Amino acid sequence: MDLSFDRASKPLCGEFSPAGDKSLAHRAALFAALAEGESEISSFPDSGVTRAMLGALGALGVESSLDGGVLRVKGTGTRRFPREGAVAQCGNSGTTMRLLAGALAMTGSAARLDGSAGLRRRPMSRILEPLAQMGAEASSAGGFAPLDFKARDASKPLAPFDGSIPVASAQVKSCLILAALAASGESVIREPGPSRDHTERMLSAMGADVAAAPDAAPCAVRVKPLSRPLEPLHCRLAGDISSAAFILAAAAIVPGSRVTIRNCGINPGRTGILDCLSAMGADVSISGRTVSAGEPVGDITLRSGALKGMEIGGDLVVRTIDEFPALAVAAAFAEGETAVRGAEELRYKETDRIAAIVRSLRALGAEAEETPDGFRISGGTLKGGTADAGGDHRLAMSMSLAGLRSPERVTVRNAEILSESFPGFESAVKSLAV
Ligand code: S3P
Repeated sequence: MDLSFDRASKPLCGEFSPAGDKSLAHRAALFAALAEGESEISSFPDSGVTRAMLGALGALGVESSLDGGVLRVKGTGTRRFPREGAVAQCGNSGTTMRLLAGALAMTGSAARLDGSAGLRRRPMSRILEPLAQMGAEASSAGGFAPLDFKARDASKPLAPFDGSIPVASAQVKSCLILAALAASGESVIREPGPSRDHTERMLSAMGADVAAAPDAAPCAVRVKPLSRPLEPLHCRLAGDISSAAFILAAAAIVPGSRVTIRNCGINPGRTGILDCLSAMGADVSISGRTVSAGEPVGDITLRSGALKGMEIGGDLVVRTIDEFPALAVAAAFAEGETAVRGAEELRYKETDRIAAIVRSLRALGAEAEETPDGFRISGGTLKGGTADAGGDHRLAMSMSLAGLRSPERVTVRNAEILSESFPGFESAVKSLAV
């Protein structure tokens, strides 16, 4: 599928209510499977990656149904998954594979985790090594999927984890938190930066003892072994700020725009995009703040303003980690240079996103260059042309937005991959342009 938007002849205006957040959805489905009893989760997003989690849980013998945005899951508790020795396909979803790995270690279940060719290229030693230290037995294809977990005797708890993980990654942290719930004592997991804390919030709401441990390190979490079963979930998921990011970036690049995102998750580990767009010159405000299932939620309004380039580094990187493709397009229409540093982790996403962002922007005539741990973009140079999604949903959507402002038309080839995360993307953008 080719994706193109007409150049906007007037400002983008209106409201957008994003579907439930995918990071929350992955956790809600998996943790509900580990609870005792039936969970009901509304505003559950139906996309390629969330289907991957439900399919993988189904392969492990967990029953669930998704109907009209309501997910019902029959929890099987923290004993072994009902189907032993299953092959759970995780599709393109790194979150599914890494969180499920933690759940297999926790429950002592034997299963194989596998996925698409793209997922098979993503590094898994970052979870396998600490899990092995804890006593979980898994083999892999040299640190890559497929991952084969061996059954563990229920009478043998895992060893507690007390150490640091080398990258700030919520997927790695969440995997270890799950395993730590089945350890023989308290675990402390230290991270180099503030990754999203959805796992900590949701598991605490389900009765687990998982909490930030600032006494151990600036970004650390302390996990006590489960002393009672996880309680089932009855909640509505906050709207997905990573989907909203595309709408916000679209409004930021079209002069005079004003959009409001309703009921959006504003977990501080996810709001880097708001801080960046605001620092670049957009007027961003949040109203109607509330808390839903332990997660902060609010309405985000963005009014466009003259954009200028900025430097992005430090903790802002992990808080913006999925939003760099959208941000790069905003930077391409800003005045001056935008430089991203300390973002080497982008090389291990669905694609090598540093290379993919630079290649796509150049295909559209912009001046952009890679650095080992980031990229530089010269604003005001993007002309238009044809880019390829390259198997990356976020790249497909982001590059298509450039057409709203570029002098020449922008076409993104192979854009059907966007259904992995945001199936209604095209109509959402078009509805703001009328
Ligand atoms: C996610 C964490 C991030 C993010 C991914 C979703 C999560 O990955 O890029 O899209 O739900 O935990 P890392 O934790 O590997 O940085």
